[in-house]
Amino acid sequence: MSERRILVTSALPYANGPIHIGHLVEYIQTDIWVRFQKLRGHRCIYLCADDTHGTAIMKSARQRGISERAFIAEIQSEHERDFHGFHIEFDNYGSTDSPHNRKLCDQIWQALQDKGLIVQRQVTEFLDATTGESLPDRFVTGSCPKCQAENQYGDNCDKCGASYTATDLINPISTVSDTPPVLGKQDHFFVEIEAMHAFLDAWTQDENHLQVEVANYLKGHFLHEPLRDWDVSRPAPYFGFPIPGTDEKHYWYVWFDAPIGYMASTQEWCDRTGEEFDTWWRDDQTEIHHFIGKDIQYFHCLFWPAMLKAANYSLPTRVHIHGFLTVGGEKMSKSKGTFVKASTYLKHLDPNYLRYYYASKLGPHVDDLDMNLDELINRVNADLVGKFVNLGSRTAKFVAECGLSSRYPDDGGLFEYAAQSGNEIAQAYEHGDYNRAMRLIMSLADRANPYVESAEPWKLKKDPDQLDRLQDVCTVALNLFRQLAIYLSPVLPELAEKVSNLLGDPLVDWQQSQSPLLGTPVARFQHMLKRVDDKDINLMIEESKEREDEDRSSEHSADSGEHLLAEPLADECTIDDFVNVDLRVARVLEAADVPEANKLLKLTLSLGGEEKRTVFAGIKQAYQPEVLVGQLVIMVANLKPRKMKFGVSEGMILAAGLGEKEVFMLTVHDGASPGQRIH
Ligand code: 2FM
Ligand code: ZN
Repeated sequence: MSERRILVTSALPYANGPIHIGHLVEYIQTDIWVRFQKLRGHRCIYLCADDTHGTAIMKSARQRGISERAFIAEIQSEHERDFHGFHIEFDNYGSTDSPHNRKLCDQIWQALQDKGLIVQRQVTEFLDATTGESLPDRFVTGSCPKCQAENQYGDNCDKCGASYTATDLINPISTVSDTPPVLGKQDHFFVEIEAMHAFLDAWTQDENHLQVEVANYLKGHFLHEPLRDWDVSRPAPYFGFPIPGTDEKHYWYVWFDAPIGYMASTQEWCDRTGEEFDTWWRDDQTEIHHFIGKDIQYFHCLFWPAMLKAANYSLPTRVHIHGFLTVGGEKMSKSKGTFVKASTYLKHLDPNYLRYYYASKLGPHVDDLDMNLDELINRVNADLVGKFVNLGSRTAKFVAECGLSSRYPDDGGLFEYAAQSGNEIAQAYEHGDYNRAMRLIMSLADRANPYVESAEPWKLKKDPDQLDRLQDVCTVALNLFRQLAIYLSPVLPELAEKVSNLLGDPLVDWQQSQSPLLGTPVARFQHMLKRVDDKDINLMIEESKEREDEDRSSEHSADSGEHLLAEPLADECTIDDFVNVDLRVARVLEAADVPEANKLLKLTLSLGGEEKRTVFAGIKQAYQPEVLVGQLVIMVANLKPRKMKFGVSEGMILAAGLGEKEVFMLTVHDGASPGQRIH
């Protein structure tokens, strides 16, 4: 088998939110594929980066009151921490906001211009009426033109999923000034992608490049008619790279510089390793594989190949497209606790569970992956713990002193059969049919376990005449165990490493599955994987629900921050509306940390006399509990009690500030008494 040179990417995650279990379908899937290729002895690199530009990030940074660069740096370190926690190992993890990326964007832009593919045209769009500035889609809200849902952004509707342009919104409002926007004309740059129609037709319809359902979708939705020009610029203000020669009045739309980020990340890796960039992006001996979700196939299968072709770079060898994650047949839901952040998962569950479970569900097609938590428990407990780990844990201890036999005993053909299965398993991995690979591997475990059960090493151990036989039985069992560990190692690298340590034999090459390990010592068996406990799953789900509670409990202070920066004042209210909110002076009697929560302190407040209230306040990052005790604060005393994970919150205290560390609790001068009403 000759060595292949393979460059692999996953879609670059947006730097405007945390990694969640939906994202992980892709990163785990790609990581498995890369580890498999490395194990097969190929040169394979896995590149990724944070996708950092665009209006969503601009808006989030503004809401936080920090610069975009500070915002994306914080998110990137969280992303990298989470990937690491799930054993997702990149050869380089970059950022689209890098000097390398900017340089590559300039160069590809120039190539598009040289080919005469860029045109400039005026577009009618919204401007803010008070500043005259162009309004990015996310800075305009209004009712959805399709389903009339209120308060939707100018790009798509989160109720019905329709996409449209901001000018289609009903009753649009600029969120910059809270006034209706005005229509104005702005210059935009477009790529005339229709000039590449014939090329894209041929490229997309070649079954080596895309799954057949993707090729058909692209044909049916886009390529059956002339391709529309692609609007690749956004007028200032925009967080991104300015287009050269436009005086910083125009920026590349995030989707122009995002895929170029794959190359910029490669360039960083080359700088570090002394590799040649063109070996990876301009050499037809190098394979380029992109793993992406079905929502972004249009960018990766039409625009991206067109850009690469125009700039004379290699085209993707294959774009591997997967579906979305659903949980219990439904979209992930915050209120049901199924929108689980990577970091929340890791607090409660072992990453190996999810890696194995996803592997056992993933096939080569674009189908959605439905996660069923009972099924996860069963598969992990039955397959990984019951069939795989058990094989080693039941036998290793009997050969801790004598080690493995020096010649391979008669095992009735078990080892040979499993070695022969290696090709079929490898084919399944290669084609992204991990589900099949896992079934094949578990069927080998199903043959190995009865061997141990009938040989009964625990009985042999008790008979001094049977110690040679015991060593032979364990040699067979541990070699079958090792074979399984090699086959599973792309999915479960941590467990493979534990097996390597047990046998003193680093498992780094697929070929090791073809011959047994003999005559070597065996270390003490270290714990490998515990059974999934449904209590931990419940805690994870509960905490995922609770995150929303926490966010809401500090909502008032975060909102105040937005108002200071950009948000309009609330709608006018009457005195009656105001009087309905019963604001009272309250004395903090006790303040305690809620160790399991990131933001919450538990306050016991006195409203005078016997009247006491418990309030969970999202102020932990701003205040030490002890400084609060004795203070007079303002509380909303008639707020409907809310059940939270840690207890019932019976009110809210008032604060200003941006949230997190920047919270300023409103206090009342001494002299006022607890329970007094605030008018
Ligand atoms: O859809 C997304 O989350 C994008 N951030 C993916 C970008 S992939 C590549 F083109 F950069
Ligand atoms: Zn709608």
